Amino acid sequence: MQNSITFSHTLLQEIISIGDTVIDATCGNGNDTLLMAQLVGKSGKVLAFDIQQQAIDRTLSLLHLNSVEQQVDCILDSHSNLSKYVKCDTKIKAAIFNLGYLPNSDKTVITLPTSTISAITTIQRYLVSGGRIVIVAYYGHKHGQEELDAIVTYLNQLNQQEWTVLQYQFINQQNCPPICFCIEKK
Ligand SMILES: C[S@@+](CC[C@H](N)C(=O)[O-])C[C@H]1O[C@@H](n2cnc3c(N)ncnc32)[C@H](O)[C@@H]1O
Repeated sequence: MQNSITFSHTLLQEIISIGDTVIDATCGNGNDTLLMAQLVGKSGKVLAFDIQQQAIDRTLSLLHLNSVEQQVDCILDSHSNLSKYVKCDTKIKAAIFNLGYLPNSDKTVITLPTSTISAITTIQRYLVSGGRIVIVAYYGHKHGQEELDAIVTYLNQLNQQEWTVLQYQFINQQNCPPICFCIEKK
């Protein structure tokens, strides 16, 4: 079985095509940004957000190493300000949130429930039919459970006529392995 991270990539690979516009809401080390950049190709666009310069730098160097920096805009800002960077008629095919803190960095800089849900709500407005928002939640850290609870509460109330919502989780593993959620627009 695929772990949550591999599964999150499968969910993206299934729908992203050359020329699409997509969002990495938490670029961190750039692994998700790289995958998205390869999937959208030179005619597509990835908007990659992070609030830490260190994360933007790590992402840019990974993209440069793989010669895909041309199709990515790295944005040093919170994903909650996303609407400042997306034109109102933009069609978003997919977005990913990898929640928690940047590995090998300051563990007190974490994603927070209010800004995460605000960004998810904004992206929902731009999402095309068949588009997906993928969320990988690490809830083992200090405020992780709080964020997980907020996400589950938010996703639970989405109208099933408009949204298909998936939760992918291993239920017999120790140390809080990440949980993958996917919201697909009908
Ligand atoms: C788990 S890491 C992301 C890992 C990344 N997806 C990768 O592939 O390496 C979470 C990232 O979210 C960033 N972050 C926290 N709050 C944020 C916010 N409001 N907007 C954008 N990024 C945020 C952190 O700085 C951190 O780099």
